[in-house]
Amino acid sequence: MFLSNDMIFSLTKKYGTPLYVYSEQILRERCREMKNLLPNKSFKVNYSAKANTNLELLKIIKEEGLDVDAMSPGEIYIEQLAGFESKQIFFISNNISAEEMRFAIDRDILISVDSLSQLEMYGQINSGGKIAVRFNPGKGAGHHEKVITAGKKTKFGVQKEQIPQVKDIIRKYNLKLVGINQHIGSLFLDWRDYIDGVCSFIEIAKEFPDLSFIDIGGGFGVPYKPDESRLDLNRLGKELDIVLKGFLEEYPNKDIIFKIEPGRYIVAECGVLLGSINSVKNSFGTTYVGTDIGFNVLARPVMYDSYHEMEIVKRNTGNDDKNNNDTRLTATIVGNICESGDILARDREIKAADVGDKLVIFNAGAYGYVMSSNYNCRLRPAEVLIDLNGEARLIRKRDTLESLAQNFPT
Ligand code: LLP
Repeated sequence: MFLSNDMIFSLTKKYGTPLYVYSEQILRERCREMKNLLPNKSFKVNYSAKANTNLELLKIIKEEGLDVDAMSPGEIYIEQLAGFESKQIFFISNNISAEEMRFAIDRDILISVDSLSQLEMYGQINSGGKIAVRFNPGKGAGHHEKVITAGKKTKFGVQKEQIPQVKDIIRKYNLKLVGINQHIGSLFLDWRDYIDGVCSFIEIAKEFPDLSFIDIGGGFGVPYKPDESRLDLNRLGKELDIVLKGFLEEYPNKDIIFKIEPGRYIVAECGVLLGSINSVKNSFGTTYVGTDIGFNVLARPVMYDSYHEMEIVKRNTGNDDKNNNDTRLTATIVGNICESGDILARDREIKAADVGDKLVIFNAGAYGYVMSSNYNCRLRPAEVLIDLNGEARLIRKRDTLESLAQNFPT
């Protein structure tokens, strides 16, 4: 953990709670681990910015030499603010409008389309242009059915049986297919799942002999539960290298670039979410620890039944006896949103909490702030970065009451 108990209390005093706090050091380490996944020079890491689009984090990721994916014009806009050039941005689109396509085309940003009808739409508005196509390799993986993005039950990608139609549309509009991409799903901890997906995918790539790149997707997991082991990146890298070298032996364009697009792996572990304990009560035999972290602040537990490690930090920390009192109990940890489903953790064994204590939620850097909302007219939290010197810096202000009203016509 990169924050001491004293820092937790001083940061929450200064910036309030809920508060996302990120470690620059861990962020940089994760970027480097991904960059070193393959020894190959023709290997490129695109950070999938949907996991966390804080401007300052994006600037660090850029400094580390990663490129980025975008899922929307909004992500493109923020990425350009962070200094990414057009050629460093890959727009992996899904069901976008012609206007959204034009937004990227006008900025010279490559788009990947994921249906025949979107390919047709692209051809109509940018005949002769460069394009990428997302394929569904037929089998997905992920921590929850909602995040499995390949296989028979997902809206994403073009089926390989439709390759002839893809070729027809490309010919019809004189398009140049420069790359193909896939993403099988999010959060796998077993390297075999990824390798399986890559093996099916390269069969599709062989159908297109002059691609400049193939993008084999993201989804690299991090251990959220204490008993989960880390993804074996060493092994994954070695196996991947074998598969891709085998592919290259048969593939005509020897200069082809291999891309991956990790989101979670880059940012999950560099972020914690800090909250306050506002109430503790017993109701019909259940102990409820009431916090200010509703599902408007961290949606993952409610949306996917996701597990996050959490810890109570006792007030008056330091040498205080209270903090050393390790009494533990089983409690249900809840937020402050007016819905009974607003549960961060059910029946969790945790240090006995009192009003005024703090709650730390670990691995909150990915799909945390980006999925937050103003539900119940709650203010989205502030974000703070702990830089390499250990100094804290505000990198996003908390919403204000006025910001809740800013879009109403005056
Ligand atoms: N590329 C594409 C096309 C994707 O759809 C995704 C994530 C990624 C890359 C990055 O995946 P990652 O490396 O982060 O697993 N909100 C969910 C995760 C949804 C991910 C969907 N796609 C969660 O909190 O677990």
